[in-house]
Amino acid sequence: MGSDAPRLRGEQSEDFCGAKVSASLNIPRHIAVIMDGNGRWAKKRGLPRTAGHTAGADSFRRAARYCRKLGVEYLTVYAFSTENWKRPEDEVAGIMGLLERYLRQALRDMEKEKIRIRIFGDLAPFSDKLRTMCQECVERSKVYSGANVNICLNYGGRDEIVRAAQKWAADGCPALTEERFGSYMWGGDIPDPDLLIRPGGEKRISNFLLWECAYAEMYFSDVLWPDFDEKQFDKAIEAYQHRERRFGDVGSGLT
Ligand code: IPE
Ligand code: IPE
Ligand code: MG
Repeated sequence: MGSDAPRLRGEQSEDFCGAKVSASLNIPRHIAVIMDGNGRWAKKRGLPRTAGHTAGADSFRRAARYCRKLGVEYLTVYAFSTENWKRPEDEVAGIMGLLERYLRQALRDMEKEKIRIRIFGDLAPFSDKLRTMCQECVERSKVYSGANVNICLNYGGRDEIVRAAQKWAADGCPALTEERFGSYMWGGDIPDPDLLIRPGGEKRISNFLLWECAYAEMYFSDVLWPDFDEKQFDKAIEAYQHRERRFGDVGSGLT
């Protein structure tokens, strides 16, 4: 960072995994991440795609710890989409196996760090084992409130909106406002993302948080997800801190 660049953080105090961490000004309250690029990461190394997903799972655990250190209240990650079932059967099976193994370990870590876990998405198509594991960890972590990680599994933004409409209808169609409709989303009780990060080079949303990201700042990076480390998070947050969020109003310099 150049000397005249705005400080990423207020007082830099603790060194964590090679990146500076501290109490901060203007850290996004909620960061959403499309964890993309695992397959290409593996291909570059002549490894099977599953090895990329394994590295991606490690990157997720590191990201959760780092965001907690930074004071990000909510981290929402896209782990498996409603469209990812289209992938070859062996890749889907590999991802499911990894989810069972790595999620268990990640969840243990998160319990140690007192992180509250929520799962967004319909777990019905998953194995009994995976579903039970997800439900248990959601229940067990309900007692924590400081840092929150939301894992999107079998998640699709359009699917979420259709389900919200179904829940609203099942509620007897109460008078509808944006706020009430939003409360039927998976994360209906949490604030919308401030920053959406997509590593992996693609510049699209791929059906992620269509409702919630109405005013999220977008950050796209060519770095593949398994390589998206603490320094990359710092860069994304620094870019966010340079943005002026107007929410449809005039800019602060124009009033
Ligand atoms: C994202 O990485 C992980 C999942 C979608 C499960 P990809 O597997 O999409 O990696 P690329 O985009 O092929 O590199
Ligand atoms: C988005 O990545 C889904 C996840 C990261 C879980 P994809 O790799 O599935 O997205 P597309 O196919 O490139 O749009
Ligand atoms: Mg991809």
